[in-house]
Amino acid sequence: MSCSLAPSETCVLVTGGAGFIGSHTTVELLERGYNVVVVDDLSNSSPVAIERIKEIVGADAAQNLTFYEENILDRAALTRIFDTHHPDRVIHFAGFKAVGESVAKPLEYYSNNIGSTLTLCDVMREHDCKSIIFSSSSTVYGDPDNPPVTEEDPKKPATNPYGWTKWMIEQMLMDLHTADPAWNVVLLRYFNPIGAHPSGLIGEDPKGIPNNLVPYVAQVAVGKREAVQVFGNDYPTPDGTGVRDYIHVVDLARGHVSALEWMNGRSEVEIFNLGTGTGSSVLDVIHAFEQACGHELPYKICPRRAGDIAANWCDASKAERMMGWKAQFDIADMCRDSWNWQSKNPDGFATAEA
Ligand code: WQD
Repeated sequence: MSCSLAPSETCVLVTGGAGFIGSHTTVELLERGYNVVVVDDLSNSSPVAIERIKEIVGADAAQNLTFYEENILDRAALTRIFDTHHPDRVIHFAGFKAVGESVAKPLEYYSNNIGSTLTLCDVMREHDCKSIIFSSSSTVYGDPDNPPVTEEDPKKPATNPYGWTKWMIEQMLMDLHTADPAWNVVLLRYFNPIGAHPSGLIGEDPKGIPNNLVPYVAQVAVGKREAVQVFGNDYPTPDGTGVRDYIHVVDLARGHVSALEWMNGRSEVEIFNLGTGTGSSVLDVIHAFEQACGHELPYKICPRRAGDIAANWCDASKAERMMGWKAQFDIADMCRDSWNWQSKNPDGFATAEA
């Protein structure tokens, strides 16, 4: 049974806390009075994000933030961090996450994502820290037979190594609890996180050409890309384009705080979908973004992207019922905040690094 702690008594170690979802979650934790230790090797994030987190939360709360530029595969470094801070909880975001890249580089994805999680859990166990929230993904449901997807829907074989790493890490953590019920595990299955903090100081900052829809649309809106490529308009959906459950990254971040408070004093394994329960098509997103940025966005219909599914959205009622969490923002809010971030940071964090 994990002991029940007040936020000010709780040290939360956030792996990948300089990344898109990790940085937004760190803001919410600090604003709720938690002590936060971020470990991030900055391989897919910027040190500017850490400075921006401090700017958002203010000097007082920023005193409760410690940042280490380390890779959690480095057992010695991770051990030093645990020896110093004795974290009570871990939120585990760190990992490679590009679906297409994972197909080309399976060894790197399994080694990094699985290996780092094994090291993390072993060091946690050595320090008697057995409460972990894992950043999982709707990808573990594969191509759902009949959306909306609930947590009771079966996991399906993944369609790429990235998806398999999420699938396998969920299984590893469940097996840990089976072997030692003192492990307190929450698996959060995200749908499609988009948007940015309303301050426009932090947001999604993909390296190179964005794989995901909204950062690509945002770069078209700010003039960095010519036109949105719509991957197929012949799906069995209302307008023929792919439908997804987009969730505001701040709603998602708050879902992690709700999970932290829900698991306080428990030792179980619990799974929660974090989405809005509403599906939006590619064209819906483009039109919502046009409203946000105030001008038309050119797009062209292209062939379907290999591996894409037609439609996926969730039933998020379990998170509301058990944790009292419910997404507050709609697609218009998400596009407004994404545009605010992109227009203020046309080159992402590099705008500030320049
Ligand atoms: C959304 C829709 C595309 C780009 C992926 C991962 C998933 C999760 C979220 C981490 C689809 C269409 C996209 C573009 C387009 N990541 N699209 N033009 O594929 O649903 O999910 O990101 O956990 O694991 O699989 O997100 O944003 O790539 O695509 O038309 O340039 O937009 O076909 O219908 P996806 P996405």
